[in-house]
Amino acid sequence: MSENTEAPVIPVIGGTGALGSGLARRWAAGGARVIIGSRDAGRAAEVAAKVAGEAGGTVEGMSNADAAQAADIVFLTIPFRNQSEYLTNLKGVLTPGQILVDCSVPLAATISGKATRTIGIWQGSAAQQAQEMVPEGVTVVSALHTVSAPGLSDLGHELDEDVPVCGDRKADKARVAGLISRIDGLRPVNAGALEMSRIVEQLTALMISVNIRYKTHAGLKFTNLPEGETF
Ligand SMILES: NC(=O)c1ccc[n+]([C@@H]2O[C@H](COP(=O)([O-])OP(=O)(O)OC[C@H]3O[C@@H](n4cnc5c(N)ncnc54)[C@H](OP(=O)(O)O)[C@@H]3O)[C@@H](O)[C@H]2O)c1
Repeated sequence: MSENTEAPVIPVIGGTGALGSGLARRWAAGGARVIIGSRDAGRAAEVAAKVAGEAGGTVEGMSNADAAQAADIVFLTIPFRNQSEYLTNLKGVLTPGQILVDCSVPLAATISGKATRTIGIWQGSAAQQAQEMVPEGVTVVSALHTVSAPGLSDLGHELDEDVPVCGDRKADKARVAGLISRIDGLRPVNAGALEMSRIVEQLTALMISVNIRYKTHAGLKFTNLPEGETF
């Protein structure tokens, strides 16, 4: 596992999807080496080639299991209804010291309900459920819930928004923030402990409701934060 601050390796499990491939485009365009994970390594390679063709940079496709072992910080961008299945599959793959960045939103749409509603989770949030399921020594950080996939995917669209990052260890959040801030126009904001993710995950439903009404891809913005390092 390696992380080079000049050109970090960024694996995205479920990276063939809307959010994952959008993030991959932005990271690749910014010079990171991106690894797209999929249940099907062939599909991952196809999407990686497409993303590299559009964004430039180095993008590889791999199975989710291989992608999960490619760097210390691994992004998980899959539908909430499949989170438990993915984390069960990753149990023998993730190793202590790794950080799993969970982007899952428990939208009711995931079980045929409305996209402007969320479902209750016993643990409090999708991220806390993920923390219960990862192997001992793996830390879950939650982020990127309010960023729109279409906005990320359109490289001509100028981003200018904040990204709440939740987690129980400041140092881990700061490392994840470093990767998020490689995307021009995204400002990571320290939103507190992992349990705050229960509120941030709800914000996605709010953003969807606003986006439906204004037919746009609105972003979130906090005012009056100090300039510079927020972690
Ligand atoms: N879309 C957004 O704008 C957005 C924004 C913020 C947060 N989120 C959250 O980010 C997560 C990913 O969203 P998304 O829109 O990117 O999802 P998605 O495109 O529907 O799915 C992402 C990937 O998950 C895998 N997947 C899809 N359905 C599956 C199934 N039934 N069983 C197993 N694997 C399946 C697929 O990868 P393979 O088939 O290649 O394995 C797919 O490419 C969600 O929790 C969502 O709420 C989304």
